[in-house]
Amino acid sequence: MIPNNAWYLTGTLVATLFSSASAFYLPGAAPHDYHEGDQVQLYVNALTPMLADYDNAKIKSMINYDYYNPGFRFCVPEGGPKSQGESLGSILFGDRIFNSPFQINMLQDNGTCRTLCRPDVSAEDAKFINERIREDYAINWLIDGLPAAELKKDNRTGDVFFDMGFNLGDDEGEYQEMPALNNHYDVVLEYHSPQPGVYRIVGVLVWPASHGGDQAAEPDCITSSQKPKLVLSEEGASVVRYSYQITWQKSSTPWATRWDNYLHIFDPRIHWFSLINSIVIVVFLCGMVSMILLRTVSRDISRYNAIDLSEEVQEDWGWKLVHGEVFRTPPHSLILSVLIGNGSQLCAMVGVTLVFALLGFLSPSNRGSLATVMMVCWTFFGGVSGYFSSRSYASMGGTDRRKQAFFAAVLLPTIVFGIMFLLNLLLITAGSSGAVPFGTMLLIALLWFGISAPLSAIGSYFGSKHGALRNPVRVNPIPRQIPPAPWYLRPWAAALFAGILPFGAAFVELYFVMSSLFASRAYYAFGFLALTAGVVGLTTATVSILFTYFLLCAEEYRWHWRAFLTGGGNAFWLLAYGLFYWASRLSLGSFQSTCLYLGYLLLLVLFDFLVTGTIGFIATYWALRRLYTAIRVD
Ligand SMILES: *[C@@H]1O[C@H](CO)[C@@H](O)[C@H](O)[C@H]1NC(C)=O
Ligand SMILES: *[C@@H]1O[C@H](CO)[C@@H](O)[C@H](O)[C@H]1NC(C)=O
Repeated sequence: MIPNNAWYLTGTLVATLFSSASAFYLPGAAPHDYHEGDQVQLYVNALTPMLADYDNAKIKSMINYDYYNPGFRFCVPEGGPKSQGESLGSILFGDRIFNSPFQINMLQDNGTCRTLCRPDVSAEDAKFINERIREDYAINWLIDGLPAAELKKDNRTGDVFFDMGFNLGDDEGEYQEMPALNNHYDVVLEYHSPQPGVYRIVGVLVWPASHGGDQAAEPDCITSSQKPKLVLSEEGASVVRYSYQITWQKSSTPWATRWDNYLHIFDPRIHWFSLINSIVIVVFLCGMVSMILLRTVSRDISRYNAIDLSEEVQEDWGWKLVHGEVFRTPPHSLILSVLIGNGSQLCAMVGVTLVFALLGFLSPSNRGSLATVMMVCWTFFGGVSGYFSSRSYASMGGTDRRKQAFFAAVLLPTIVFGIMFLLNLLLITAGSSGAVPFGTMLLIALLWFGISAPLSAIGSYFGSKHGALRNPVRVNPIPRQIPPAPWYLRPWAAALFAGILPFGAAFVELYFVMSSLFASRAYYAFGFLALTAGVVGLTTATVSILFTYFLLCAEEYRWHWRAFLTGGGNAFWLLAYGLFYWASRLSLGSFQSTCLYLGYLLLLVLFDFLVTGTIGFIATYWALRRLYTAIRVD
C-alpha cells in the first residue's frame, strides 16, 4: 500500500513539474476588462536593490525605500499618496503600494509626450538619490497587477523575457563620474482584445531614460545617446523635469498567459543538473544504507538470535552490546523534545507550502501569497508542535508535562519574534520602508501567541494522552562505560561530515533561492524546489540512521542529541554558504544592510537546523525501534 502511494505521489509531482512549466498559477483572479478611455491606475511600490546587468555585479544593499520617501522627490498625486491594502505576506516581504499621479486612459494619448512635474531637488536630496543610484536601486510599478518590467535577453538561451523593475538611474561606474538620474519613462502597455471594445492589459514595459539639458523647457521624449544626461548637482539645488510617454501596443498574448513572460527560469539546465546531482547522491546513499541494513544488520540479527550451544555464555558485541542503554533518558530531554516539536511544525509548514506552490495557488499575481501561506500554516500547525514535542518527551522518559507544553508553545515564536523585532529596529533606523508597521507586528504576535501557542498546548494535551512509545528493550539500571569514540564520530565532526550530503544535494538549487531572497530575482521553479526538498529530507534521514548505526557499533549509546545534530549538520554548511554568498555576491555598504543580511541568514539557518534535525531524529528513532525489536534479548 505504502509504496503504491509513494509512487502515486512521485508521479503526481513529476507530472506537476512538467505541466506547470508554462502555468505556475491558477487563473484565480478575474481579468479586469477596460473600455476605451477608462482610467488605468498606475501604482508605485517600494524601491528595491537590483542585481545590475554587468558581469560579476553584486547586490549592494538589503534595504527597501518607500517610493514617496521625501529624499527621492518623486511626483506626488493630488491630495497626497494613498496607501493600498495589502496581504500580510506582502507587507512582510516589503511591498508598500501607493497610488501615483500618472494619467493613463485606455488606448488614448498614444505616444503623447507629457510632463509629470518639476520638483526642486536640494543638494542633500541629490546626495541621497545619487547614493541610491550607485547602489543599483530599481523602481517598481504595478499596472493592473502586473509589474513594470524591462525587456531583457537571457544570454545563455537567447530568450527574451520581462525583468521586473527598472533602473532608478544609470551608474556605469568607470565611464561616468556622476550617476545619471532617469527622469523620463517610455511606457509600453501591451493590450489584448478578447472581443471588440473590450481590452485587457497583458504586458507593461518601461524604458527609463535620462534627459538632461534645460529642465524648464518642454520635453520632447526622444531618447538618443547624443543627448546629455541628467546629473544631479550635489553642490546646490536643481530642478528635475519628470516626463513620460505611453504607447499602446496590440498583443496576441491572451490574459490567461500574461505572466509567462515574467516567469523566466534562468537556464533550466542548471536546475536539471542540480536535480540529477541530488538523485545521484540519494541513490548512492540508499544503496549504502540498504547494503548495511540488509546484509550487516540481518546477519547480526540472525547471529544474535542463534542459540549457540557450544558456548556457555554468548558474548554480545556491536550494537547489541548497548541494548540496555539505547533508550536511556538523554540529558536535557525537555529542550530536545521542544526542538523536535518546533521542527515538526516547520516541516509541516514547508510541506504544505510546497504543495500549494506546486498546485499553482501561489501565483505571482497574488502578491505575497507565498509568505502569507507560510505564516498561516505555521500558526495553525502549532498543534503539531505540541503533539510531537509531548510524545517524544514522554517517550524519552520526561515527566514535567507542564514545562514541556509551555516551552513547546512559546520558545520558537519568542526567538523568531525577538530576531524580527531587532531587525525591524535596524530597518527603522535606516529609514527603510521595509520596516514592518506596528499594526502588522501586533497581528503577527497575535497569530503566534494568541492562536499558535494555544493550539500547541492542545496538541501537547493530546500527545500526553496518547503517552509514550513503549521501548522495545529494557534499560539497564546502571549505565555502561563508554569507550572513547574515533575522531570522525565526535559530535561536531560527525555533524559536519553528515551534513555534506544533504547540502550537496541542495546547493545548486540553494543558489537560486538565495538569489530570489536577497537579489530580488523572482523564483518560480517550485517543481524543482519540491523535488530537491524531498531529496534533502530523504538524504538527511538515511545519513542520520547511518551515523547512529556507526555510533552504536562504537558502543557510544548517547544517540538522541547526536541524531538531531547529525540531521541538522547541513545547517552549518548552509551558514558557511551564506557567508560565502555574502563575500562573493554581495557588497553591502552600510552597517544596517550587513546586520540585516546576517539576521535573515541566521533565521534561515535556524529553521533549516530545526527541520532537518527533526527529520534526522525521527528517522533514527524509528530505525532503532525496528532494530531492537528484531533482536532477542535474554
Ligand atoms: C549579454 O550579451 C550582450 C551582447 O552580446 C552584452 O552586451 C550583455 O552585457 C550580456 N549580458 C549579460 C548579463 O551578460
Ligand atoms: C500607438 O503608436 C504606435 C507607434 O507609435 C503604434 O505602433 C501603435 O499601433 C499605436 N497604437 C494604437 C492603439 O494606435
